[in-house]
Amino acid sequence: MLVFKTAHHLRSRFKSNLQTIGLVPTMGALHKGHLSLVKKACEENDKVVVSIYVNPTQFNEVSDLKKYPSNLEKDLKLLQSFSNQVVLYTPDHKDLYPDGIQSKTYDFGTIAAHMEGEYRVGHFEGVATVVEALFRKIQPQKAYFGEKDFQQLQIIKALNAQKKLGVTIVPCPIVREKDGLAMSSRNRLLTQSQRQAAAQIYTVLDELKKRKLGKEVHAMKDFFIKELSREKELKVEYFFVASTNDLVPVTTIQEGFIYRIFTAVFAGKTRLIDTVELGRI
Ligand code: PAF
Repeated sequence: MLVFKTAHHLRSRFKSNLQTIGLVPTMGALHKGHLSLVKKACEENDKVVVSIYVNPTQFNEVSDLKKYPSNLEKDLKLLQSFSNQVVLYTPDHKDLYPDGIQSKTYDFGTIAAHMEGEYRVGHFEGVATVVEALFRKIQPQKAYFGEKDFQQLQIIKALNAQKKLGVTIVPCPIVREKDGLAMSSRNRLLTQSQRQAAAQIYTVLDELKKRKLGKEVHAMKDFFIKELSREKELKVEYFFVASTNDLVPVTTIQEGFIYRIFTAVFAGKTRLIDTVELGRI
């Protein structure tokens, strides 16, 4: 498999505009969720660029950046199971941040204001900065993102529209473990007992989808917190229900809108996020 350290080398190798390029941006520590994006990108493009870059500007805590899992050797092995249609881009900081590692400023309005935007201040500026750099340098026709980071996906769609980057953003469904836990690189940081407890996050979200707890969000939130508190290792950081249009949290569910539950839960020191669609009420 071809591995490129610079976007310049990569682009000069794939000069012809007759070849379509699909981009799968990642921070490495690849799992089956990432591989589902790569598979979809392979079906829809001539070439697929998987980028692996742990982007410092999107971490609001240095300790979180330091412990972010990485295993390039294993990632390479996983990607080699695809054909040579897939190439790897592993830039250093200079290639993506030639003027220094700093976030740019954006205005994404309400979609960046709550949930991850509120609890990880500066996170989306960092994500948007690196994704804009990747789009400009790789110039893909399509880019693939998982719906686990549903808010991030909306930010990237807005970034793409605001900056007229001309990339088709392809959302891909969440891939879950057998017990329902959303796949995430961070799952590798869990101890065995935390991993077992973490399965409850989706179990209770799924229960909330099925149960009719009325239209009041506080009843749903109380139920979620109560159920998760049975697991000593879990601590709910936030629980919101927001309309998928503007991602503004609501207190009451109204007819005619599609809502999603968004949650962040600590399993020990590892922060996990998940989301489920509640559908049209
Ligand atoms: O979702 C991720 O892994 C990251 O936020 C992304 C999109 C690769 C940007 O660093």
